[in-house]
Amino acid sequence: MRHQSLHTMGQQHGRRSWAEPWKIKMVEPLNMTDRPTRARALADAGYNTFLLHSADVYIDLLTDSGTSAMSDRQWAGMLLGDEAYAGSRNYYHLEEAVRRFYGYRHLVPTHQGRGAEHLISRTLIRPGDHIPGNMYFTTTRLHQELAGATFHDVIVDEAHDPESLHPFKGDVDLAKLAALIDEVGAEQIPYVSLAGTVNMAGGQPVSMANVRAVRELCDRHGIRLLLDATRMVENALFIQEREEGYAQRSIAEILLEFCGYTDGAWMSSKKDHLVNIGGWLAVNDDSLFEELRNLVVVYEGLHTYGGMAGRDMEALAIGIEESVSDDHVRSRVGQVRYLGELLTQWQIPIVRPVGGHAVFLDARRFYAHLAQDVFPAQTLAAELYLDSGIRSMERGIVSAGRDPETGDHKRPKLELTRLTIPRRVYTQAHMDVVAESVKACFDARDAARGLRLVYEPRYLRFFQARFEPL
Ligand code: F0G
Repeated sequence: MRHQSLHTMGQQHGRRSWAEPWKIKMVEPLNMTDRPTRARALADAGYNTFLLHSADVYIDLLTDSGTSAMSDRQWAGMLLGDEAYAGSRNYYHLEEAVRRFYGYRHLVPTHQGRGAEHLISRTLIRPGDHIPGNMYFTTTRLHQELAGATFHDVIVDEAHDPESLHPFKGDVDLAKLAALIDEVGAEQIPYVSLAGTVNMAGGQPVSMANVRAVRELCDRHGIRLLLDATRMVENALFIQEREEGYAQRSIAEILLEFCGYTDGAWMSSKKDHLVNIGGWLAVNDDSLFEELRNLVVVYEGLHTYGGMAGRDMEALAIGIEESVSDDHVRSRVGQVRYLGELLTQWQIPIVRPVGGHAVFLDARRFYAHLAQDVFPAQTLAAELYLDSGIRSMERGIVSAGRDPETGDHKRPKLELTRLTIPRRVYTQAHMDVVAESVKACFDARDAARGLRLVYEPRYLRFFQARFEPL
Protein backbone atom coordinates (compact mmCIF):
# COMPACT_ATOMS: atom_id res chain seq x y z
CA MET A 1 0.00 0.00 0.00
CA ARG A 2 1.36 3.38 -0.89
CA HIS A 3 -0.67 5.95 0.97
CA GLN A 4 -1.42 5.01 4.57
CA SER A 5 -4.64 5.76 6.33
CA LEU A 6 -4.49 7.71 9.58
CA HIS A 7 -5.00 4.48 11.49
CA THR A 8 -1.85 2.78 10.35
CA MET A 9 0.36 5.85 10.14
CA GLY A 10 3.36 5.72 12.35
CA GLN A 11 2.97 2.01 12.98
CA GLN A 12 5.31 1.01 10.20
CA HIS A 13 8.97 1.89 10.07
CA GLY A 14 10.87 2.44 6.90
CA ARG A 15 7.70 3.10 4.95
CA ARG A 16 7.98 4.97 1.64
CA SER A 17 4.83 6.72 0.46
CA TRP A 18 4.49 8.11 -2.99
CA ALA A 19 2.92 11.45 -3.70
CA GLU A 20 1.37 12.97 -6.78
CA PRO A 21 3.95 13.81 -9.48
CA TRP A 22 2.76 17.45 -9.63
CA LYS A 23 2.17 20.41 -7.36
CA ILE A 24 -0.78 22.80 -7.32
CA LYS A 25 -0.46 26.12 -9.14
CA MET A 26 -4.06 27.36 -9.15
CA VAL A 27 -7.02 26.51 -6.95
CA GLU A 28 -10.79 26.60 -7.33
CA PRO A 29 -12.64 27.31 -4.07
CA LEU A 30 -15.36 24.81 -3.16
CA ASN A 31 -18.84 25.54 -1.89
CA MET A 32 -19.70 24.18 1.52
CA THR A 33 -23.44 23.81 2.11
CA ASP A 34 -25.61 22.89 5.08
CA ARG A 35 -28.02 20.00 5.23
CA PRO A 36 -31.28 21.98 4.77
CA THR A 37 -29.84 23.58 1.61
CA ARG A 38 -28.82 20.17 0.27
CA ALA A 39 -32.23 18.68 1.09
CA ARG A 40 -33.86 21.43 -0.98
CA ALA A 41 -31.39 21.08 -3.85
CA LEU A 42 -31.88 17.30 -3.91
CA ALA A 43 -35.67 17.57 -4.03
CA ASP A 44 -35.42 20.18 -6.81
CA ALA A 45 -33.15 17.75 -8.69
CA GLY A 46 -35.70 14.93 -8.48
CA TYR A 47 -33.24 12.87 -6.38
CA ASN A 48 -31.05 12.50 -9.44
CA THR A 49 -27.45 13.68 -8.95
CA PHE A 50 -27.23 14.51 -12.68
CA LEU A 51 -29.82 17.24 -12.12
CA LEU A 52 -28.01 19.00 -9.26
CA HIS A 53 -26.37 22.33 -9.90
CA SER A 54 -22.64 22.00 -9.55
CA ALA A 55 -22.63 25.09 -7.30
CA ASP A 56 -24.52 23.00 -4.71
CA VAL A 57 -21.90 20.22 -4.78
CA TYR A 58 -18.92 20.02 -2.41
CA ILE A 59 -16.77 17.11 -3.71
CA ASP A 60 -17.85 16.17 -7.22
CA LEU A 61 -17.36 12.46 -7.91
CA LEU A 62 -20.12 12.24 -10.51
CA THR A 63 -17.65 11.34 -13.23
CA ASP A 64 -14.01 11.39 -14.28
CA SER A 65 -15.18 12.58 -17.71
CA GLY A 66 -14.04 16.04 -18.73
CA THR A 67 -13.29 16.85 -15.09
CA SER A 68 -9.50 16.48 -15.08
CA ALA A 69 -7.12 19.31 -14.25
CA MET A 70 -4.94 20.25 -17.20
CA SER A 71 -1.21 20.83 -16.74
CA ASP A 72 0.58 24.14 -17.27
CA ARG A 73 1.92 22.68 -20.53
CA GLN A 74 -1.61 21.91 -21.71
CA TRP A 75 -2.79 25.42 -20.81
CA ALA A 76 0.19 26.84 -22.69
CA GLY A 77 -0.88 24.70 -25.64
CA MET A 78 -4.33 26.32 -25.51
CA LEU A 79 -2.69 29.59 -26.53
CA LEU A 80 -1.18 27.91 -29.56
CA GLY A 81 -4.55 27.11 -31.11
CA ASP A 82 -4.51 27.31 -34.89
CA GLU A 83 -8.17 28.04 -35.47
CA ALA A 84 -8.13 27.47 -39.21
CA TYR A 85 -11.26 25.71 -40.50
CA ALA A 86 -9.12 23.22 -42.39
CA GLY A 87 -5.72 21.66 -41.82
CA SER A 88 -5.03 23.15 -38.38
CA ARG A 89 -1.48 22.60 -37.17
CA ASN A 90 -2.93 21.25 -33.92
CA TYR A 91 -4.73 18.47 -35.81
CA TYR A 92 -1.41 17.19 -37.12
CA HIS A 93 0.05 17.21 -33.59
CA LEU A 94 -2.91 15.15 -32.49
CA GLU A 95 -2.55 12.72 -35.36
CA GLU A 96 1.12 12.28 -34.54
CA ALA A 97 0.37 11.62 -30.84
CA VAL A 98 -2.31 9.01 -31.63
CA ARG A 99 -0.03 7.23 -34.10
CA ARG A 100 2.88 7.27 -31.71
CA PHE A 101 1.10 6.09 -28.57
CA TYR A 102 -1.80 4.00 -29.95
CA GLY A 103 -0.25 2.84 -33.21
CA TYR A 104 -3.28 3.21 -35.50
CA ARG A 105 -2.71 4.57 -38.98
CA HIS A 106 -5.74 6.78 -39.57
CA LEU A 107 -7.35 9.33 -37.27
CA VAL A 108 -10.89 10.74 -37.32
CA PRO A 109 -11.37 13.49 -34.69
CA THR A 110 -14.75 13.76 -32.91
CA HIS A 111 -16.17 16.08 -30.27
CA GLN A 112 -16.18 13.30 -27.65
CA GLY A 113 -16.50 9.53 -27.32
CA ARG A 114 -20.14 9.15 -28.31
CA GLY A 115 -19.51 11.06 -31.54
CA ALA A 116 -16.99 8.37 -32.42
CA GLU A 117 -19.40 5.62 -31.32
CA HIS A 118 -22.06 7.06 -33.58
CA LEU A 119 -19.79 7.10 -36.63
CA ILE A 120 -18.41 3.59 -36.20
CA SER A 121 -21.81 2.05 -35.39
CA ARG A 122 -23.47 3.73 -38.35
CA THR A 123 -20.68 2.71 -40.71
CA LEU A 124 -20.29 -0.95 -39.79
CA ILE A 125 -23.64 -2.15 -38.44
CA ARG A 126 -26.56 -3.33 -40.62
CA PRO A 127 -30.03 -3.93 -39.12
CA GLY A 128 -30.19 -7.45 -37.68
CA ASP A 129 -26.48 -7.60 -36.82
CA HIS A 130 -25.11 -8.74 -33.47
CA ILE A 131 -22.43 -7.05 -31.38
CA PRO A 132 -20.61 -9.00 -28.68
CA GLY A 133 -18.89 -6.94 -26.00
CA ASN A 134 -17.25 -7.28 -22.57
CA MET A 135 -20.24 -5.80 -20.71
CA TYR A 136 -22.13 -2.86 -22.07
CA PHE A 137 -21.49 0.83 -21.75
CA THR A 138 -24.61 3.05 -21.85
CA THR A 139 -23.86 5.27 -24.87
CA THR A 140 -21.86 2.60 -26.72
CA ARG A 141 -24.67 0.06 -26.61
CA LEU A 142 -27.34 2.60 -27.46
CA HIS A 143 -25.48 3.64 -30.62
CA GLN A 144 -25.11 -0.02 -31.58
CA GLU A 145 -28.83 -0.58 -30.97
CA LEU A 146 -29.89 2.55 -32.84
CA ALA A 147 -27.88 1.28 -35.83
CA GLY A 148 -29.95 -1.93 -35.71
CA ALA A 149 -27.75 -4.36 -33.76
CA THR A 150 -28.49 -6.58 -30.78
CA PHE A 151 -25.85 -6.35 -28.06
CA HIS A 152 -24.56 -9.51 -26.34
CA ASP A 153 -22.57 -9.43 -23.12
CA VAL A 154 -19.69 -11.92 -23.41
CA ILE A 155 -17.67 -10.85 -20.36
CA VAL A 156 -16.43 -13.49 -17.88
CA ASP A 157 -18.98 -14.39 -15.17
CA GLU A 158 -16.70 -13.02 -12.44
CA ALA A 159 -17.35 -9.49 -13.74
CA HIS A 160 -20.92 -9.70 -12.46
CA ASP A 161 -19.79 -10.73 -8.99
CA PRO A 162 -18.65 -7.72 -6.94
CA GLU A 163 -16.86 -9.99 -4.46
CA SER A 164 -14.81 -12.01 -6.94
CA LEU A 165 -11.10 -11.13 -6.70
CA HIS A 166 -10.31 -12.26 -10.26
CA PRO A 167 -7.43 -10.00 -11.43
CA PHE A 168 -8.89 -9.44 -14.92
CA LYS A 169 -12.64 -9.18 -14.51
CA GLY A 170 -12.82 -7.31 -17.82
CA ASP A 171 -11.77 -10.39 -19.84
CA VAL A 172 -13.94 -11.74 -22.63
CA ASP A 173 -15.27 -15.24 -22.00
CA LEU A 174 -14.01 -16.97 -25.14
CA ALA A 175 -16.56 -19.77 -24.87
CA LYS A 176 -19.43 -17.26 -24.79
CA LEU A 177 -18.00 -15.43 -27.79
CA ALA A 178 -17.46 -18.66 -29.75
CA ALA A 179 -21.00 -19.80 -28.93
CA LEU A 180 -22.45 -16.54 -30.22
CA ILE A 181 -20.44 -16.81 -33.44
CA ASP A 182 -21.78 -20.36 -33.90
CA GLU A 183 -25.33 -19.27 -33.17
CA VAL A 184 -25.69 -16.16 -35.34
CA GLY A 185 -22.84 -16.64 -37.85
CA ALA A 186 -19.69 -14.55 -38.29
CA GLU A 187 -21.18 -12.58 -41.18
CA GLN A 188 -23.77 -11.12 -38.76
CA ILE A 189 -21.05 -9.83 -36.42
CA PRO A 190 -19.42 -6.71 -37.89
CA TYR A 191 -17.05 -6.35 -34.94
CA VAL A 192 -16.32 -7.38 -31.39
CA SER A 193 -16.69 -4.39 -29.05
CA LEU A 194 -13.87 -4.66 -26.51
CA ALA A 195 -13.41 -2.09 -23.74
CA GLY A 196 -10.28 -1.54 -21.66
CA THR A 197 -10.97 -1.23 -17.89
CA VAL A 198 -14.66 -2.06 -18.11
CA ASN A 199 -16.55 0.90 -16.67
CA MET A 200 -19.82 -0.79 -15.68
CA ALA A 201 -17.98 -3.73 -14.10
CA GLY A 202 -16.17 -1.38 -11.74
CA GLY A 203 -13.21 -0.27 -13.88
CA GLN A 204 -11.94 -3.83 -14.29
CA PRO A 205 -9.09 -4.61 -16.69
CA VAL A 206 -8.61 -6.93 -19.66
CA SER A 207 -5.40 -9.00 -19.73
CA MET A 208 -2.96 -9.04 -22.62
CA ALA A 209 -3.43 -12.82 -22.86
CA ASN A 210 -7.15 -12.29 -23.31
CA VAL A 211 -6.94 -9.67 -26.06
CA ARG A 212 -4.46 -11.93 -27.87
CA ALA A 213 -6.88 -14.85 -27.64
CA VAL A 214 -9.84 -12.75 -28.77
CA ARG A 215 -7.75 -11.58 -31.73
CA GLU A 216 -7.05 -15.19 -32.71
CA LEU A 217 -10.70 -16.13 -32.48
CA CYS A 218 -11.71 -13.09 -34.54
CA ASP A 219 -9.06 -13.93 -37.16
CA ARG A 220 -10.40 -17.46 -37.52
CA HIS A 221 -13.81 -16.01 -38.40
CA GLY A 222 -12.81 -12.84 -40.23
CA ILE A 223 -14.40 -10.56 -37.59
CA ARG A 224 -13.02 -7.12 -36.73
CA LEU A 225 -11.86 -6.36 -33.20
CA LEU A 226 -12.46 -2.77 -32.12
CA LEU A 227 -11.40 -1.24 -28.83
CA ASP A 228 -13.05 1.30 -26.57
CA ALA A 229 -9.73 2.88 -25.51
CA THR A 230 -11.32 5.43 -23.16
CA ARG A 231 -9.47 4.23 -20.04
CA MET A 232 -6.87 2.04 -21.70
CA VAL A 233 -3.82 3.58 -19.95
CA GLU A 234 -5.36 2.54 -16.64
CA ASN A 235 -5.80 -0.94 -18.08
CA ALA A 236 -2.10 -0.91 -18.99
CA LEU A 237 -1.16 -0.27 -15.36
CA PHE A 238 -3.11 -3.34 -14.21
CA ILE A 239 -1.31 -5.44 -16.82
CA GLN A 240 2.02 -4.10 -15.57
CA GLU A 241 1.09 -4.94 -11.96
CA ARG A 242 -0.71 -8.24 -12.43
CA GLU A 243 0.33 -10.04 -15.60
CA GLU A 244 3.47 -12.10 -15.82
CA GLY A 245 6.15 -10.67 -18.07
CA TYR A 246 4.97 -7.03 -17.92
CA ALA A 247 6.44 -5.72 -14.65
CA GLN A 248 9.41 -4.19 -16.45
CA ARG A 249 7.47 -2.83 -19.42
CA SER A 250 6.33 0.79 -19.48
CA ILE A 251 2.69 1.87 -19.68
CA ALA A 252 3.42 3.24 -23.16
CA GLU A 253 4.86 -0.10 -24.36
CA ILE A 254 1.94 -2.06 -22.92
CA LEU A 255 -0.60 0.32 -24.47
CA LEU A 256 0.98 0.01 -27.89
CA GLU A 257 1.15 -3.78 -27.73
CA PHE A 258 -2.48 -4.05 -26.62
CA CYS A 259 -3.78 -1.75 -29.35
CA GLY A 260 -1.70 -3.72 -31.85
CA TYR A 261 -4.07 -6.68 -31.43
CA THR A 262 -7.04 -4.56 -32.48
CA ASP A 263 -8.17 -3.09 -35.80
CA GLY A 264 -9.08 0.30 -34.45
CA ALA A 265 -10.41 2.19 -31.46
CA TRP A 266 -12.83 4.86 -30.34
CA MET A 267 -11.85 7.19 -27.59
CA SER A 268 -13.41 9.56 -25.11
CA SER A 269 -10.40 11.78 -24.48
CA LYS A 270 -12.32 13.37 -21.62
CA LYS A 271 -11.01 10.53 -19.44
CA ASP A 272 -7.43 9.23 -19.86
CA HIS A 273 -6.27 12.21 -21.89
CA LEU A 274 -6.62 14.87 -19.22
CA VAL A 275 -8.75 17.27 -21.25
CA ASN A 276 -12.21 18.69 -20.70
CA ILE A 277 -13.54 17.90 -24.17
CA GLY A 278 -12.50 15.78 -27.15
CA GLY A 279 -12.35 12.34 -28.66
CA TRP A 280 -11.45 10.36 -31.74
CA LEU A 281 -11.79 7.25 -33.79
CA ALA A 282 -8.73 5.57 -35.26
CA VAL A 283 -8.50 2.64 -37.66
CA ASN A 284 -5.95 0.83 -39.79
CA ASP A 285 -8.17 -0.14 -42.72
CA ASP A 286 -7.96 2.33 -45.65
CA SER A 287 -11.46 1.89 -47.03
CA LEU A 288 -13.12 1.98 -43.62
CA PHE A 289 -11.20 5.19 -42.94
CA GLU A 290 -12.50 6.68 -46.13
CA GLU A 291 -16.11 5.97 -45.14
CA LEU A 292 -15.61 7.39 -41.67
CA ARG A 293 -13.97 10.48 -43.04
CA ASN A 294 -16.93 10.99 -45.36
CA LEU A 295 -19.36 10.71 -42.47
CA VAL A 296 -17.49 12.85 -39.93
CA VAL A 297 -18.12 15.98 -41.97
CA VAL A 298 -21.87 15.33 -41.78
CA TYR A 299 -22.15 14.83 -38.03
CA GLU A 300 -19.11 16.25 -36.25
CA GLY A 301 -17.17 18.77 -38.33
CA LEU A 302 -14.45 18.83 -40.93
CA HIS A 303 -12.12 15.80 -40.90
CA THR A 304 -9.31 17.91 -39.41
CA TYR A 305 -11.23 19.12 -36.34
CA GLY A 306 -14.29 16.90 -35.81
CA GLY A 307 -16.00 19.28 -33.37
CA MET A 308 -12.91 20.40 -31.47
CA ALA A 309 -11.31 23.84 -31.56
CA GLY A 310 -7.65 23.97 -32.59
CA ARG A 311 -6.69 24.77 -28.99
CA ASP A 312 -8.61 21.73 -27.75
CA MET A 313 -6.64 19.51 -30.12
CA GLU A 314 -3.34 20.98 -28.92
CA ALA A 315 -4.19 20.41 -25.25
CA LEU A 316 -5.29 16.89 -26.20
CA ALA A 317 -2.08 16.07 -28.07
CA ILE A 318 -0.08 17.15 -25.01
CA GLY A 319 -2.48 15.33 -22.67
CA ILE A 320 -1.97 12.04 -24.53
CA GLU A 321 1.75 12.22 -23.91
CA GLU A 322 1.27 13.08 -20.22
CA SER A 323 -1.32 10.33 -19.79
CA VAL A 324 1.12 7.50 -20.56
CA SER A 325 3.67 8.56 -17.94
CA ASP A 326 4.11 5.68 -15.49
CA ASP A 327 4.29 8.02 -12.48
CA HIS A 328 1.07 9.73 -13.48
CA VAL A 329 -0.91 6.52 -13.96
CA ARG A 330 0.41 5.00 -10.74
CA SER A 331 -0.64 8.00 -8.67
CA ARG A 332 -4.00 8.29 -10.43
CA VAL A 333 -4.95 4.68 -9.83
CA GLY A 334 -3.20 4.79 -6.44
CA GLN A 335 -5.57 7.50 -5.25
CA VAL A 336 -8.59 5.45 -6.26
CA ARG A 337 -7.11 2.45 -4.46
CA TYR A 338 -6.46 4.51 -1.33
CA LEU A 339 -10.17 5.33 -1.07
CA GLY A 340 -11.13 1.73 -1.81
CA GLU A 341 -8.77 0.36 0.85
CA LEU A 342 -10.10 2.73 3.47
CA LEU A 343 -13.67 1.60 2.78
CA THR A 344 -12.61 -2.04 2.75
CA GLN A 345 -10.96 -1.64 6.18
CA TRP A 346 -14.27 -0.26 7.44
CA GLN A 347 -16.12 -3.27 5.98
CA ILE A 348 -18.20 -1.22 3.59
CA PRO A 349 -19.30 -3.34 0.61
CA ILE A 350 -17.56 -2.24 -2.59
CA VAL A 351 -16.62 -3.88 -5.88
CA ARG A 352 -13.26 -5.58 -5.53
CA PRO A 353 -10.56 -5.52 -6.70
CA VAL A 354 -10.76 -1.71 -6.73
CA GLY A 355 -10.78 -0.55 -10.37
CA GLY A 356 -8.95 2.20 -12.20
CA HIS A 357 -11.19 5.24 -12.19
CA ALA A 358 -13.66 4.86 -9.38
CA VAL A 359 -14.71 3.07 -6.24
CA PHE A 360 -18.07 1.39 -6.78
CA LEU A 361 -20.24 0.94 -3.70
CA ASP A 362 -22.23 -2.28 -3.79
CA ALA A 363 -25.72 -0.92 -3.10
CA ARG A 364 -27.24 -4.42 -3.05
CA ARG A 365 -25.24 -5.34 0.04
CA PHE A 366 -25.19 -1.77 1.41
CA TYR A 367 -29.01 -1.65 1.46
CA ALA A 368 -29.67 -5.37 1.78
CA HIS A 369 -33.27 -4.59 2.83
CA LEU A 370 -34.16 -2.72 -0.41
CA ALA A 371 -35.49 -4.45 -3.54
CA GLN A 372 -33.81 -3.51 -6.82
CA ASP A 373 -37.09 -1.98 -8.05
CA VAL A 374 -36.83 0.81 -5.44
CA PHE A 375 -33.44 1.81 -6.86
CA PRO A 376 -30.95 1.15 -4.05
CA ALA A 377 -27.96 2.66 -5.90
CA GLN A 378 -29.90 5.80 -6.82
CA THR A 379 -31.00 6.01 -3.18
CA LEU A 380 -27.43 5.74 -1.97
CA ALA A 381 -26.27 8.51 -4.32
CA ALA A 382 -29.04 10.73 -2.91
CA GLU A 383 -28.22 9.89 0.73
CA LEU A 384 -24.51 10.58 0.21
CA TYR A 385 -25.26 13.97 -1.27
CA LEU A 386 -27.59 14.77 1.60
CA ASP A 387 -25.00 13.73 4.18
CA SER A 388 -22.05 15.76 2.92
CA GLY A 389 -22.59 17.34 -0.50
CA ILE A 390 -20.57 14.61 -2.23
CA ARG A 391 -21.93 13.84 -5.69
CA SER A 392 -21.79 10.26 -6.99
CA MET A 393 -23.58 8.41 -9.79
CA GLU A 394 -25.99 5.48 -10.04
CA ARG A 395 -24.72 2.52 -12.09
CA GLY A 396 -27.44 -0.06 -11.64
CA ILE A 397 -31.01 -0.65 -12.76
CA VAL A 398 -31.63 2.99 -13.75
CA SER A 399 -28.51 3.12 -15.95
CA ALA A 400 -29.30 -0.27 -17.50
CA GLY A 401 -32.56 1.10 -18.99
CA ARG A 402 -35.34 -0.99 -20.46
CA ASP A 403 -35.30 -4.04 -22.68
CA PRO A 404 -36.18 -2.75 -26.19
CA GLU A 405 -38.31 -5.89 -26.82
CA THR A 406 -40.32 -6.26 -23.60
CA GLY A 407 -40.22 -2.69 -22.25
CA ASP A 408 -39.46 -4.01 -18.76
CA HIS A 409 -36.46 -2.80 -16.71
CA LYS A 410 -33.23 -4.58 -17.46
CA ARG A 411 -32.13 -5.90 -14.10
CA PRO A 412 -28.34 -5.97 -13.98
CA LYS A 413 -26.66 -8.13 -11.35
CA LEU A 414 -24.53 -5.16 -10.38
CA GLU A 415 -26.40 -2.44 -8.49
CA LEU A 416 -23.66 0.11 -7.88
CA THR A 417 -23.06 3.69 -6.82
CA ARG A 418 -19.92 5.09 -8.41
CA LEU A 419 -17.49 7.41 -6.63
CA THR A 420 -15.55 8.53 -9.67
CA ILE A 421 -12.24 10.26 -9.12
CA PRO A 422 -11.31 13.10 -11.49
CA ARG A 423 -7.62 13.11 -12.45
CA ARG A 424 -5.24 15.50 -10.67
CA VAL A 425 -8.10 17.34 -8.94
CA TYR A 426 -8.69 16.18 -5.36
CA THR A 427 -6.28 15.46 -2.51
CA GLN A 428 -5.93 12.56 -0.13
CA ALA A 429 -7.72 14.66 2.51
CA HIS A 430 -10.74 14.85 0.20
CA MET A 431 -10.64 11.04 -0.04
CA ASP A 432 -10.75 10.80 3.76
CA VAL A 433 -13.79 13.09 3.88
CA VAL A 434 -15.51 10.99 1.20
CA ALA A 435 -14.80 7.74 3.05
CA GLU A 436 -16.16 9.18 6.30
CA SER A 437 -19.38 10.29 4.61
CA VAL A 438 -19.87 6.85 3.09
CA LYS A 439 -19.36 5.41 6.57
CA ALA A 440 -21.98 7.76 8.03
CA CYS A 441 -24.50 6.61 5.38
CA PHE A 442 -23.59 2.99 6.06
CA ASP A 443 -24.20 3.42 9.78
CA ALA A 444 -27.62 4.93 9.00
CA ARG A 445 -28.46 2.37 6.28
CA ASP A 446 -31.49 0.80 7.98
CA ALA A 447 -33.41 4.08 7.70
CA ALA A 448 -33.22 4.18 3.87
CA ARG A 449 -36.57 3.54 2.15
CA GLY A 450 -35.80 3.76 -1.56
CA LEU A 451 -37.22 5.84 -4.41
CA ARG A 452 -40.07 5.84 -6.90
CA LEU A 453 -39.55 6.78 -10.57
CA VAL A 454 -41.80 9.71 -11.53
CA TYR A 455 -40.35 10.83 -14.87
CA GLU A 456 -38.49 8.69 -17.36
CA PRO A 457 -36.92 9.92 -20.61
CA ARG A 458 -36.86 7.63 -23.63
CA TYR A 459 -33.09 7.36 -24.12
CA LEU A 460 -30.32 7.06 -21.51
CA ARG A 461 -32.89 7.64 -18.80
CA PHE A 462 -30.39 7.90 -15.93
CA PHE A 463 -29.30 11.36 -17.10
CA GLN A 464 -32.65 13.08 -16.68
CA ALA A 465 -34.99 10.75 -14.76
CA ARG A 466 -36.77 12.13 -11.69
CA PHE A 467 -37.64 10.34 -8.46
CA GLU A 468 -39.54 10.80 -5.22
CA PRO A 469 -38.75 9.27 -1.84
CA LEU A 470 -40.88 6.32 -0.75
N1 F0G B 1 -16.94 4.61 -23.45
C1 F0G B 1 -16.76 4.56 -22.12
C2 F0G B 1 -16.14 3.35 -21.52
C3 F0G B 1 -17.17 5.63 -21.33
O1 F0G B 1 -16.98 5.57 -20.02
C4 F0G B 1 -17.77 6.76 -21.94
C5 F0G B 1 -18.23 7.89 -21.14
C6 F0G B 1 -17.94 6.76 -23.31
C7 F0G B 1 -17.50 5.67 -24.04
C8 F0G B 1 -18.60 7.90 -24.04
O2 F0G B 1 -17.75 8.97 -24.11
O3 F0G B 1 -18.84 10.73 -22.69
O4 F0G B 1 -17.00 11.29 -24.30
O5 F0G B 1 -19.25 10.70 -25.14
N2 F0G B 1 -18.36 7.82 -19.88
C9 F0G B 1 -18.68 8.89 -18.96
C10 F0G B 1 -18.78 8.35 -17.58
C11 F0G B 1 -19.82 9.75 -19.37
O6 F0G B 1 -19.16 9.11 -16.68
O7 F0G B 1 -18.44 7.20 -17.34
P1 F0G B 1 -18.26 10.51 -24.06
